Amino acid sequence: MSANDQHTHHTQLERAQKANDALAETRKARWYPHVHIAATAGWINDPNGLSFFNGRYQAYFQHHPYGSQWGPMHWGHVSSTDMVHWQRHPIALAPSIEADRDGVFSGSAVEGPDGLLYAFYTGHRWRNGNNEDDGNLQVQCLAVSQDGCSFEKRGTVIDCPEGISHFRDPKVWYQEGRWWMVVGVSSLEQRGEVWLYASSNLTEWRFERVLFQAPEPSVFMLECPDMFPLGDKWVLLYCPMGLAKTGFEGRNGHNAGYVVGDWAPGQAFTPLTSFRPLDWGHQFYAPQTFETPDGRRAMFGWMGAFNMALPPQAEDGWCGQLTVPRELRLGSDLHLYNLPIAEFSQLRTRTLDLGALILEANQTRVIVEECQPCEIALTIDLDHSSAERIGLWIGQPNGSDGVLIAYDDQTQRVVVDRGSAQLGDRGYRAAPCASEGKLELRILIDTSSVEVFINNGHASITSFVFPVEGQRSALLRAESGNATIDSVVVHSLSSIWR
Ligand code: FRU
Repeated sequence: MSANDQHTHHTQLERAQKANDALAETRKARWYPHVHIAATAGWINDPNGLSFFNGRYQAYFQHHPYGSQWGPMHWGHVSSTDMVHWQRHPIALAPSIEADRDGVFSGSAVEGPDGLLYAFYTGHRWRNGNNEDDGNLQVQCLAVSQDGCSFEKRGTVIDCPEGISHFRDPKVWYQEGRWWMVVGVSSLEQRGEVWLYASSNLTEWRFERVLFQAPEPSVFMLECPDMFPLGDKWVLLYCPMGLAKTGFEGRNGHNAGYVVGDWAPGQAFTPLTSFRPLDWGHQFYAPQTFETPDGRRAMFGWMGAFNMALPPQAEDGWCGQLTVPRELRLGSDLHLYNLPIAEFSQLRTRTLDLGALILEANQTRVIVEECQPCEIALTIDLDHSSAERIGLWIGQPNGSDGVLIAYDDQTQRVVVDRGSAQLGDRGYRAAPCASEGKLELRILIDTSSVEVFINNGHASITSFVFPVEGQRSALLRAESGNATIDSVVVHSLSSIWR
């Protein structure tokens, strides 16, 4: 990068940081998260550049520092020594060169053999300089850093292929002596595809092959592809744009999921499964993974939406948060499990073990009067329960405003039902679960979100929820039948911010 370009980048970063600091002065806390990464103020979307570098976990995210709406994208930055407690850093990347004139879009980061952090991102331009009406001009760019905080831009490493309008979100990994990159593409025929590139030096990249095409003709673009091994299989994560709703699936404006297959360098990717949701909630998108130093596959997703305003967006000066970090595991049936990383339990401060409980038909039982951010673990004995719905109500004890997280015996699913929430979008989401035996629910409740992990991560539901502002309680509830609950444990959680 020329001295001039470097200067422009610095100026843009300083300007953005100043504007963001000013916005943070007026940010309202009422719905602001306690155990989730969000920007001090302003908008965030996808997790980017997840890595362990310079002795710390580095997490960047799509960020509009000037307001709580999506806008010209920057990379916000936080880091951590333990993936539990996080420290904020100044904005890491801002639009500053012609190639990223209208946005520093999503991407990933790896440590190079020279000990530098190589961040690959999509340089975004509107072809008409204004909006998407005449298409996008998207190229893959590189920026390098010695410390993970300040970056030097190296410009475009992969140009936009002729006639292509969606070409973004590079995810890079190292395998058998070479670097590999997957990129999400909308083909000339408007089909959603993942393209594979390879490099021996992280700078010169060669197109290898179309790695994958979504089978659904309506799917015109695959955003945020990620590709990684679990055991001897490969998991391909992606976010299909244009997916149709079918029953309980594809319900969101933005849906994220995976296929599992076989792959080796130089070979085609052979899918062994169909596309499956990775999470069943209202807000789970753009997941990105990385390998921890001890070899686990960790993932963050984005909780938010482009198509629907969230209550804090208009008035509170912030919007969007990342999920808690989760570990992914592959079952022998090629099912992808996800659970909070083991370290997450370090946030537990006080534990209340309520033991076993029986609820009579239509009974409710307060378990926490004043429910602060916490984790609640329930084991429900389905074989000895007759209720139509058994679960946890977060909200007013009288049942007027709140959300219900429950096992629903009619659909034989776990539901997050926001039908009585004080604010925000309504509706419910439902994840599959076994309808016999013991049902284990691990529920993370933050100020404006829930993440529900079902049967040891076999399924999860991630949703923004606005049950009631201010004081809220947690109650157990059995509807139209009794409930046998083997155990109820409540852990209070401390803040993630250092
Ligand atoms: C996904 C996405 C990416 C893009 C980024 C822009 O949420 O649309 O495809 O790089 O967000 O902010």
